[in-house]
Amino acid sequence: MKVNFARPSLPATGIAVVCVTSGGKLTASAEKFDKKTGGALKRAIRSSRFKGEIGQSLNIMAPSGGRLDRIILVGLGKVADICELEIQKIGGKIYAETCRGITGLVTVAVDPISGAQMSAADMAAHLGYGSRLRSYRFDKYKTKLKESDKPSIKTITFQCTGFANARAAFRALEKIAAGVFFTRDLVSEPANILYPDSFAKQAKSLERLGVKVEVLGEAQMRRLGMGALLGVGQGSVRESKMVVMQWNGSGRKNRGKKAEAPVAFVGKGVTFDTGGISIKPSAGMEDMKWDMGGAGVVVGLMKALAGRKAKANVVGVVGLVENMPDGNAQRPGDIVTSMSGQTIEVLNTDAEGRLVLADALWYTKERFKPKFMVNLATLTGAIIISLGNQHAGLFSNNDTLSERLTQAGKDVDEPLWRMPISPEYDKMINSDAADMKNIGGRGAGSITAAQFLHRFVDKVPWAHLDIAGVTWSKTDAPTVPKGGTAFGVRLLDQLVRNHYEGK
Ligand code: BES
Ligand code: MN
Ligand code: ZN
Repeated sequence: MKVNFARPSLPATGIAVVCVTSGGKLTASAEKFDKKTGGALKRAIRSSRFKGEIGQSLNIMAPSGGRLDRIILVGLGKVADICELEIQKIGGKIYAETCRGITGLVTVAVDPISGAQMSAADMAAHLGYGSRLRSYRFDKYKTKLKESDKPSIKTITFQCTGFANARAAFRALEKIAAGVFFTRDLVSEPANILYPDSFAKQAKSLERLGVKVEVLGEAQMRRLGMGALLGVGQGSVRESKMVVMQWNGSGRKNRGKKAEAPVAFVGKGVTFDTGGISIKPSAGMEDMKWDMGGAGVVVGLMKALAGRKAKANVVGVVGLVENMPDGNAQRPGDIVTSMSGQTIEVLNTDAEGRLVLADALWYTKERFKPKFMVNLATLTGAIIISLGNQHAGLFSNNDTLSERLTQAGKDVDEPLWRMPISPEYDKMINSDAADMKNIGGRGAGSITAAQFLHRFVDKVPWAHLDIAGVTWSKTDAPTVPKGGTAFGVRLLDQLVRNHYEGK
């Protein structure tokens, strides 16, 4: 779908979208259409429940007085409540309402709204962004898709004064959407297609955008002493990998002094999680193809940052393994030595994500000495019991970082909820046989998992996002169609933005 911006003019064909604010107040373009159609808009509003409230829409089919197929009235709600997020959601709704039109031509009239916080050009850019985000589809394996099931929308044009500004603003937003789409693609691919090596090749493609990408194989990781990560992958015929991505966009040159410390993002990339010898029940196991969601977000984030040429120094590290039961698989009770030197008694081979992250976090800290480090992982089923699909869990050793993350989450509608960590919980993972065990007791499953990670970050300001409940969605939302959500990409892009703009 092409997203275009143009100067205002009454469209003659296709679908025209016009806006109405709270209380059924027509915008200037809506007034024009009303006149042209002999009062069809006002009549339609009077005879329906459509009152221009946010989320409302009303279709007027084949209105008289022209060759238009449809006019769609879209509610903007209260003028005082107009903001980027709400406008993005309306953009998503416009896409959903129009994507199965006949002509495939959609024109949206974006009028200035007096008293609103946003200009018409800003609104147009964010409507475009929302519609692009909603237009994501993963249908490459559907060879028999019916014509009527395919979206027919070819071009969506947003008309506003100052359309060149809208286009420029959209160019940056579009790069974030490209990162989101990359993540959604990775999360949606099945595990026979996406495994550590093929995932690493996908990450390599970011070199085209100027990202430095290194791929470590098992031999290198063994030399580094990454016994925790390697233990998880040892039952798989697929070689484990670690990918290290660097985006140096801050523009600060290394004039004899030390280079500016980067910020770092670390992702759990279990390309399939059977549970290993502590095998999972078969019902629903297919969901574990998206157990690489954290790694998917890190890669999509790097794409977004490089795409929009972010003035930031950012490192992305992902640990890629497949957790399989096998003659060579790790056994419950095995004791492994992590890169940090700390030993781990593996009491449950299904608590594997923390083992992967233990080495990935330690490696990132040692090599890059980052200003702060945020990891993302579909780590525990318990976080879904705690927070459902509405919030991701946030665990941190640093209040400032927690607040920044929570704020960024609010800014982009990817909400986080902070959960506790403390020495009392930490005790629950002490082991009789080794430095720690990889599971706690029955309670506080997400917290003991976080305590485990905490043992591999030293004093670095660190946060862990448990995204198990938000990585995949079974229902459509305005800017997030069902399937892989890429929750985290927009949030971390925003965090980086706020950090480097000194907010
Ligand atoms: N990948 C799972 C967590 C998960 C569950 C993600 C459901 C998404 C949806 C993780 O590796 C796991 O298996 N965790 C175990 C930990 C337990 C063995 C301590 C869990 O949550 O049951
Ligand atoms: Mn598991
Ligand atoms: Zn897992």
